[in-house]
Amino acid sequence: MAITDDETGIAPLLADKLKTHGIQAEVVRSVPNHASGVVFLGGLRSLTTESEALAVNYEAFAAAKSVAQQLTARGGLFVTVQSTGGAFGLRGMGSQQAWTSGLSGLIKTAALEWPKASVKAIDLEMTGLTKEQAADAITAELLWGGPEVEVGLRINEPRVTVHAEPASLSKSVSKRVLNQKGVIVVTGGARGVTAAALQAFAEAVPLRFVLLGRTALTEEPAIFTHANTEAELRQTLFDSYKANGQKMTPRELSTRVQAILANREIKETLHTLKQLGSHASYYAVDIQDQQALAHTLSEVRREWGQITGIIHGAGVLADKRIADKTSENFDLVFRTKVVGLSNLLAATQQDPLDMLVLFSSIAARLGNIGQCDYAMANEILNKIAVVQASQRGADCIVKSFNWGAWDGGMVTPSLRTHFTDRGVNLIPIEQGARVFVEELLFGDREQIEVVITGDRVGQGIWEDRYELSANC
Ligand SMILES: NC(=O)c1ccc[n+]([C@@H]2O[C@H](COP(=O)([O-])OP(=O)(O)OC[C@H]3O[C@@H](n4cnc5c(N)ncnc54)[C@H](OP(=O)(O)O)[C@@H]3O)[C@@H](O)[C@H]2O)c1
Repeated sequence: MAITDDETGIAPLLADKLKTHGIQAEVVRSVPNHASGVVFLGGLRSLTTESEALAVNYEAFAAAKSVAQQLTARGGLFVTVQSTGGAFGLRGMGSQQAWTSGLSGLIKTAALEWPKASVKAIDLEMTGLTKEQAADAITAELLWGGPEVEVGLRINEPRVTVHAEPASLSKSVSKRVLNQKGVIVVTGGARGVTAAALQAFAEAVPLRFVLLGRTALTEEPAIFTHANTEAELRQTLFDSYKANGQKMTPRELSTRVQAILANREIKETLHTLKQLGSHASYYAVDIQDQQALAHTLSEVRREWGQITGIIHGAGVLADKRIADKTSENFDLVFRTKVVGLSNLLAATQQDPLDMLVLFSSIAARLGNIGQCDYAMANEILNKIAVVQASQRGADCIVKSFNWGAWDGGMVTPSLRTHFTDRGVNLIPIEQGARVFVEELLFGDREQIEVVITGDRVGQGIWEDRYELSANC
């Protein structure tokens, strides 16, 4: 068994305790490919900065990737240990530690990708524990714990796991009054499902939106005026290159066509929001770029005034199983969500936020094959939302939506077929958008992480809403 070093002294104690139970265990700097068992203790490290905490997620992914082939083929053990309050944030946690929460997203995905292996995410509350007691608690869970994939351990309390319970929204709650003079910055808000959610929002309450995305807004050349579909755009572009004696690779053709389609979608969103009585403007910026984002938001403040809300909808996918996922795949997906959020929070430290809404995913709750990066990133979003809600208090509504698959946005036609073939009901766009608005207007502010699926689509929109709890 390979035990990664927590650098606080728990790893050697754990190795000794396991040896007394006849298990060969050694503390390692990096996990060897042939290890049939791994206990990743990086989540117990004492952390002083957010970047140290984020690095823990990268190390855990590297450890999982080292043994992914072995555990897929022959099974084995992979366990992560984090310290996010002993109940995966549901009973509070340290703010730096929350950035390590991706570990449980990794484990839930590994559980699906490695069906022969035993995997578990342990959340061990360290407050009041000696290193010896911590090593004892982990040993006991490894040797005698139950089959739960997520297990929370708190001193003198029963072990817990996380449940998502169906919970309708109470319509008796009085409608939240939103600040219509405020400025809401929406990453990814010009396209996809976030744009649909904003349109429903604008229908309910006209607001002031600043939309961010990487796509540069450009004037569309006149040759495309009559090209309405993707196929027509391709043909028009191909013909124009041919007529000019130029060559274009299929990849370049696709990139140009996608840019035109993205531009059209952005313009359409801006038009619709304005028609509905909201103010809307678009800024092209990559939210992974801290300086560029800070600069854009300064410009927003100059033109629009103080920022009062953030809706973080930006996200990308690069699906591959842990064994095959490259660090570039991982980085792109993880950074867009997590570094994007960190940059947003840093750039708005002085703004009086009364709304912080994160587009997370059900992949964070359940894991998803090919999406360890996405599950990890979204799980961090969920837990940062919990921390932000407790820091910002009653003046700020904080929600993290763990969406099931929508019938649109990043669910491309091929992904749609993949889901429907497996009997997954997609969330219809209008329904998802309506749920979004109602949760913000009527949702209990104590319920930070909500799970919304399309499981029972058509049976009433609140049938598919779940709240989380931590119990045995
Ligand atoms: N659709 C679903 O079924 C589903 C399910 C669960 C969760 N979600 C979540 O919902 C959100 C929206 O998803 P979607 O389906 O609408 O995806 P989408 O259609 O692919 O839209 C993603 C948006 O994010 C923007 N974006 C990506 N990277 C960015 C970056 N680095 N900086 C700034 N903007 C960036 C994109 O604009 P540019 O390309 O112009 O940058 C685009 O507007 C995502 O966070 C996703 O994880 C969606």
